[in-house]
Amino acid sequence: MERNVKELVAKMTLEEKAGMCSGQDFWHLKGVERLGIPGVMVSDGPHGLRKQDDKADHLGINESIRAVCFPPAVLSACSFDRELLEEMGVAIGKEAQATDLSVILGPAVNIKRSPLCGRNFEYYSEDPYLAGEAAAAFINGVQSQHVGTSLKHFAANNQEYNRMNCSSEVDERTMREIYLPAFETAVKKSQPYTVMCSYNRLNGTFASEHPWLLTEVLRDEWGFKGYVMSDWGAVNDRVEALKAGLELEMPASGGINDQEIVRAVTDGTLDEAILNRSVERILSSVFRYLDNRQEETLNLNDDHELARHIAEESIVLLKNEDSILPLSAEESVAFIGGFAKTPRFQGGGSSHINSFRVDSALDMAAAAGYTVSYAQGYPANDDVYEEDAVAEAIRTAAAADKAVIFAGLPDSFESEGYDRSHMHLPDCQNRLIDEILRVQPNTIVVLHNGSPVEMPWRGKVKGIVEAYLGGQAVGGAVVNILYGKVNPSGKLAETLPIKLSDNPAHLNFGDGAEVHYQEGIFVGYRYYDAKEMEVAFPFGHGLSYTEFRYSNLRTDKSVLTDTDTLTVSVDVTNTGNRTGKEAVQFYVADRTGTCRRPKKELKGFKKVALEPGETKTVSVTFEPRSFSWYNTDLHDWFIGSGTYEILAGSSSRDIRQSLTLQMNSAQKLPLKLHMNTTFGELLSDPRTREYGLFLKKKMDDFFGDGSEANESESSDEAVSDAMSEAIAASIPLRNVVSFGLCTKEEVAEVLEKLSQNS
Ligand code: BGC
Repeated sequence: MERNVKELVAKMTLEEKAGMCSGQDFWHLKGVERLGIPGVMVSDGPHGLRKQDDKADHLGINESIRAVCFPPAVLSACSFDRELLEEMGVAIGKEAQATDLSVILGPAVNIKRSPLCGRNFEYYSEDPYLAGEAAAAFINGVQSQHVGTSLKHFAANNQEYNRMNCSSEVDERTMREIYLPAFETAVKKSQPYTVMCSYNRLNGTFASEHPWLLTEVLRDEWGFKGYVMSDWGAVNDRVEALKAGLELEMPASGGINDQEIVRAVTDGTLDEAILNRSVERILSSVFRYLDNRQEETLNLNDDHELARHIAEESIVLLKNEDSILPLSAEESVAFIGGFAKTPRFQGGGSSHINSFRVDSALDMAAAAGYTVSYAQGYPANDDVYEEDAVAEAIRTAAAADKAVIFAGLPDSFESEGYDRSHMHLPDCQNRLIDEILRVQPNTIVVLHNGSPVEMPWRGKVKGIVEAYLGGQAVGGAVVNILYGKVNPSGKLAETLPIKLSDNPAHLNFGDGAEVHYQEGIFVGYRYYDAKEMEVAFPFGHGLSYTEFRYSNLRTDKSVLTDTDTLTVSVDVTNTGNRTGKEAVQFYVADRTGTCRRPKKELKGFKKVALEPGETKTVSVTFEPRSFSWYNTDLHDWFIGSGTYEILAGSSSRDIRQSLTLQMNSAQKLPLKLHMNTTFGELLSDPRTREYGLFLKKKMDDFFGDGSEANESESSDEAVSDAMSEAIAASIPLRNVVSFGLCTKEEVAEVLEKLSQNS
């Protein structure tokens, strides 16, 4: 049904319109009965329903309906599988239809800047390309069921400390290359019904009242068509927020802020057209849902199976020395650790789901008929070292053929609302692992954590399985991976650093009223690669029980321009004897030297299933954006001319194939020519090099370098040229004038001409 929303808004009173711009209560938007506009409900999200009925809160404190907890983003991103994430979205969309929810509050695409952020478990990645692709797929899935999503938290909300006040101080290029693209991709590829602004300030201004963020970038540049809602309680100044582009304030403001809007329209400080437009945007989304209602019933059991499948496709096999895994049904295995019985499978806070069922690894192993003994060793939710429990665990581990220790972070270690102060596992767990290693060399660790942990024992255990927070069906998924019923295919969506202080944000995280993103664009693997640092496990890493060979990397062009798309293909062969899946990663490396860039950046990925001996061609398409960087003089994306390398790999540090391409870009950087431009700048740009050489010759002559005597004495002319060019690089043009070699007017005239011709 085509609604004429404009007409409807025209019939509303000023008070009704202002009222539409805030919630009715914690979870509902207001309706206007006389005009047939019902109030609709929104709810968290992102990885399942947290629909609360009576006692509402945004911190996950009070109980919600029984639902399915799918794997949180920290794990589902590791699937590197768009179709799977879309499938998860479809299931959640259907659940929302079945329970009358108009919008799911998610996905959350903030970049994992530091492992300490308490909410990393809800975020996809340290890489904006991966985060954006994952979010777009999920949104497409949910919205295919005519239920909205709320892409959050917009933007630069990368810590929980002081999250409602702190200013993220981020430079323009970093914002564009790291912190905005996941939002941009999701908006452009999947048009979420809503975007949720974040609590924090961005460069001093609250995100909730940031016109550049909410209007210039989001709507004018990216073409966002839905409405912007506030995070719960994120509004600072209601009228400023409305003007900046924040349509809906959540939750209810008890009418106080609605009155502010009415007052501002009445006294002329707010143009009523802004209010009308805001209400139109809200209502358009509301009717998009209302006019497309679907009959659905909750299929909790089916969705539980899907949740397990997603976990199986995402769990990452980090280490598998001596092929310790998979376990065989014939061997005796000891499961050690409280998490084997009570898995930690989701994080705390607003995404906390009241799971209708939780599978533990211990129960699932028993159900599958495997011979597994068990000792708790340590309690699931505490850091307590109990001598007796440890002694029993050691005995149990020693008596088995292999020990699997379930380690991880207790609930209290990480949650929405606060950050961690360290990256350690509970001491009791590290001690237990060490002691078990003394009696059982065949030890595997399974990890349940929302964010990276230091693994002091990583060189000593034979196997490590990163299950992260795997959703309510994680137990079955882990057992299927351990016993090889499922061949692992997850890849890390973040780097696991060796220790906290290795992290690029280490000296600038949390603390204070401002947080300065001084590492700039060098976040995650972009930093570890640039610093050539050893990491525990690199971005994109993940093993399989089979092996893959890469060959024949090729592109459809070897020379391209800045408007071309490029098809990149590589052949992948399963050389082992098990069926498996490989998430093939494609990176771009800028070798033009135009500016400082990361050594490589992920620009494409695809997961492919292969039978033993089978070969498939995996192809991705690169857009011009795949090659570009953000130039702050142009305030736009820029592609430099020169050489680019295309890399295909099994992880960011396991590049299997590479080739180079020539880019002939028509784009040119603006010349910035003035008396303090350096010789270096002139000489390095082909447009000004000739003039640079001319002036340099004058300088050389002046200092005597160019004299015949000197030339004949020079033993190695190339070196002396290089040296003099290096020295000249930092000399400003004004020196040509101060040494009396040219007049200021002469230089200025040439600079003017060069600028005009560039
Ligand atoms: C969180 C949001 C969430 C909202 C509603 C806020 O505290 O930051 O992510 O959607 O509460 O529960």
